[in-house]
Amino acid sequence: MDGVSSPEAPGSEWWRTAVIYQIYPRSFADRSGDGIGDLPGVTSRLDDLSALGVDAIWLSPFQRSPQKDAGYDVSDYCDVDPIFGTLADFDEMLAQAHARGIRVIVDLVPNHSSDQHVWFRDALAAAPGSPERARYIFRDGKGPQGEEPPNNWESVFGGPAWTRVTEADGTPGQWYLHLFDTSQPDFDWTNDEVRQEFRRILRFWLDRGVDGFRVDVAHGLVKKEGLPDYTPPTDAGSMGGGETAVPYWGQDGVHEIYRDWHELLAEYDGARALCAEAWLPSVAQTALWVRPDEMHQAFNFEYLETPWDAQKLRLVIADSLAGFGAVGAPSTWVLSNHDVVRHASRLALTVENPQGYGIGPRTPGKPDPVVGLRRARAATTLMLALPGSAYLYQGEELGLPEVIDLPDSARQDPTWFRTHGERYGRDGCRVPLPWTADGPSYGFNDTGESWLPQPTQWAAFARDVQRDDPDSTLTLYKTLLAERRARGLGAGQLEWIDGLPEHVVAFRNGSITVVANVGTEPVPLPGGTVVVSSGPVASGILSPDQTVWLAGD
Ligand code: GLC
Repeated sequence: MDGVSSPEAPGSEWWRTAVIYQIYPRSFADRSGDGIGDLPGVTSRLDDLSALGVDAIWLSPFQRSPQKDAGYDVSDYCDVDPIFGTLADFDEMLAQAHARGIRVIVDLVPNHSSDQHVWFRDALAAAPGSPERARYIFRDGKGPQGEEPPNNWESVFGGPAWTRVTEADGTPGQWYLHLFDTSQPDFDWTNDEVRQEFRRILRFWLDRGVDGFRVDVAHGLVKKEGLPDYTPPTDAGSMGGGETAVPYWGQDGVHEIYRDWHELLAEYDGARALCAEAWLPSVAQTALWVRPDEMHQAFNFEYLETPWDAQKLRLVIADSLAGFGAVGAPSTWVLSNHDVVRHASRLALTVENPQGYGIGPRTPGKPDPVVGLRRARAATTLMLALPGSAYLYQGEELGLPEVIDLPDSARQDPTWFRTHGERYGRDGCRVPLPWTADGPSYGFNDTGESWLPQPTQWAAFARDVQRDDPDSTLTLYKTLLAERRARGLGAGQLEWIDGLPEHVVAFRNGSITVVANVGTEPVPLPGGTVVVSSGPVASGILSPDQTVWLAGD
């Protein structure tokens, strides 16, 4: 951050209380007009993020990539993909963000590269047993001719996790592991060359001035020795399971890698941070990723996955504060990201929807959009009162729902293809943002191009129509963020309030009392002045699906 203004003194652990806004660059703002968002687009909209009041942004991958998994398939970790701009565009974006006091976190994808990465191409050209193959997980197949995969693991996106290669002499050869798409071969993290390479990549971005990294699939880098067979329980979500014995998730060996990175980041000034994307069955397990000498934060997916249920919410909040607190880490809170159904739709789903499946025209139990938005506003009003750090996903401040009616022909998520349309996948939360009610592509660019079609209802959600509307979701988010900051809620302490009906979640944090009605019956509002409310306040009554912050009393 040399010479660049920063919101706090160097060394302050800003990430403990920060509100971090996720930018999905493909869908944020598109300056080039090709229908895919880009870094100059991000720079052009930083004032809107300042006005929103976030402390930091996290950018999903913009590094060089064939875009088979929307950039989570990186072919060059130290360059910007031309569809997003150039390294100079990145530097400009970073400088402009810092000038506004906004920190910048970039995505790091260490579990796998793209199959177009020079290392993987070298591996394919080299012989079995070569040092080039040893950077990835190549194995001989089973069966007399090696015609069966080395084990029974399945890809998170569906189908087998192994693909057989053709050797240089044209014969069917070894198999390589890909926990995700075939275009995403897994690195072998037992190989020191891989470790050295990622140290170099971390330094490359740290030297440019980034404030931290969101670490993709941080629970997956190390696989159990011997790569034993494993059959997940049928009801498990795709990323975590609910199992502790998965031979490719959460292996002990990953922690040593993050201890090494922790030390590397500590060499830099300004409190750089690592945030783990680790889908694990419980907060207690996730907390292992944020012990004092490892990462600084981990996403709280247990919170994200909690249904709109007062008892479950109280439990997960208490568990999170206790579990992360026990290792001296802040709790984080998150309701939406680029992998899950947007919470303005998810919270009104009436049927079980495993993570990663998405919703589409044929999904049963489609959410009622009015209920969904009401709950989403109430859920966010609850979340932003909690102590710790919170993540927002672009568009949630506009109240965007999941786009359900994408035509099949428009879908791009590898999940959709690998499951032959059985799972819709994640495109519905990735549709380019509406900035203006009028104009081509609702202000996403000025050509009208859009890599996923935008629905006509986007006009009503556009930022420009919400900006001056006191009742809009955008105004609600701005008020919540301003009050959260002014009252120091991120650094506060939660104190439960008992004695209210079962379906109410209520607590104090510093100067405010938070009351959320998570049930179907109205409840009397406790005394105090309403600071902010997720919905209209009727006299003395808190309606179902409504949260308020009260001051005084
Ligand atoms: C992470 C990303 C997801 C991606 C996957 C494979 O879960 O968030 O979008 O598909 O990793 O890299």
